[in-house]
Amino acid sequence: MIKDTKIPKADSNKVYLETMGCQMNKLDSELVLSQLTEMGYELTDNPDDAGVVIYNTCSVRQHAEDKVISKIGNLKKRHKEKKDLTLAVIGCMAQRQGPKMQEENPQVDIVCGPGQIHRLGEEITKLQKTHAPIVMRNSKADMEKLEELDATRKNFNKEAPFSAYVRVIRGCSKFCHFCVVPFTRGLESSRPIDNIVEETKKLVDGGVKEITLLGQTVNSYHYVNGKAHTLADVMYRIHDFTGLERIRFVTSYPTDFHDEIMQAMATLPKACEYLHMPAQHGSDAVLKRMNRHYDRQQYVDVINKYRETVPNIAIASDIIVGFCGETEEEFEETKDLLREIRFKNNYIFQYSTRPKTHAEKELPDDIPLEVKKRRNHELLALQNSIAQEDNQKFIGQTFDVLVEGPSKKPHLNTIPDTPISQLHNIVNVSAKPKQAEPVANEEIIQLVGRTKGDYITVFNGPKSLIGQIVDVQIKKASAVTLFGELDS
Ligand code: SAH
Ligand code: F3S
Repeated sequence: MIKDTKIPKADSNKVYLETMGCQMNKLDSELVLSQLTEMGYELTDNPDDAGVVIYNTCSVRQHAEDKVISKIGNLKKRHKEKKDLTLAVIGCMAQRQGPKMQEENPQVDIVCGPGQIHRLGEEITKLQKTHAPIVMRNSKADMEKLEELDATRKNFNKEAPFSAYVRVIRGCSKFCHFCVVPFTRGLESSRPIDNIVEETKKLVDGGVKEITLLGQTVNSYHYVNGKAHTLADVMYRIHDFTGLERIRFVTSYPTDFHDEIMQAMATLPKACEYLHMPAQHGSDAVLKRMNRHYDRQQYVDVINKYRETVPNIAIASDIIVGFCGETEEEFEETKDLLREIRFKNNYIFQYSTRPKTHAEKELPDDIPLEVKKRRNHELLALQNSIAQEDNQKFIGQTFDVLVEGPSKKPHLNTIPDTPISQLHNIVNVSAKPKQAEPVANEEIIQLVGRTKGDYITVFNGPKSLIGQIVDVQIKKASAVTLFGELDS
């Protein structure tokens, strides 16, 4: 990786990094932190303390870009007056804007796209000596070096070191008419299977229990090395690593390889029963305008097949409202799709026109903002009522929950009463080998974790359970959260 690069000033070696956007960005941030700490930089949670501030940006909607502009705007004064700051903007927005980012925001020292992050450390060091602004560009050698960065990285998931992302595909070649990703992350390319397997092995040997395989269209994974390998092959090859408990993958595209993946999910005990497969819309006409290569019935058929093959599979999706020309009738078809599929959850987005995309060039963004907002709210209300109803079936059932940490909103999460004394009892008497040994008299707090189906589950227990898999019996269910008790 990065060799012998010396940091010029002691006070410039503190790094603050903030990540926006998708799991790909979260992984890229981990790779950057792994690289910079290896070079001797220290991390800080306070941007005011940091000599190096990095924003890893998202371009998928205009709103995400506006947030970045406002954040870097706040640093303008400090950059100009105190001169103690190196400001790097990395990620999709950096790739999309290139030199324009610096022209419009002269306080930005380094502009670095997702395909150049392996060189970021060197460029920061260079800039700290020369103070000459840098706009990084893709070069032919980048792909190999990027591959090296993924393969040699350390696990840098500070919040949940027991969980890690592993990239299987870079980029996307689907060119959905609304989407900027193919322009910012480049065309789809599957990573060598041996590299993926080795990287996973290292992470699992280092204590990771849950691996999430990542790709914009993760089920398109196709790597030929003598024979053709699919995502299912990746799952089979990593499944038996000692210490690995869960395998997930996101995000799936409704066409491409499915049968082998369903079989792998059905037969591999560590494969999580969770499928995130964005439908985007319920109307054939809109799907066509969006350049999604399937119609509604094909989508429904694939989901039904997954449900037949993988018992209890939870289905999540993304939906866009207010896409170019969306009529009330077409919108109703999306509502109807929600009622037909009954998704576990839906990420609902208001359409936002993106530069360079086909829709930006050819299709007018003609749905007024108020209409987009109204459709968004209606869909959210429908999704919530469906999930609220469906989640009641979990009451009384017991699930394996991977404990992620303290609940972020304990005051909102009321759990059915369990006397604290009884809780200590439950935890202490647990005979299950997989249940963590709690520290005697440890404080009981509200914890949050996820089931294999990705249901957020809140329950009371000691902090020492974080990172463990425990049995939780569900007592109450809302549209997005299950509430339970540690099972004795
Ligand atoms: N396959 C990717 C999709 C990346 S974008 C994945 O990993 O999820 C995530 C979601 O953002 C898309 O599924 C889509 O629903 C939404 N989206 C993409 N472009 C958008 C746009 N221009 N306006 C509104 N939503 C958009
Ligand atoms: Fe974007 Fe469509 Fe690819 S949503 S990431 S172009 S599958």
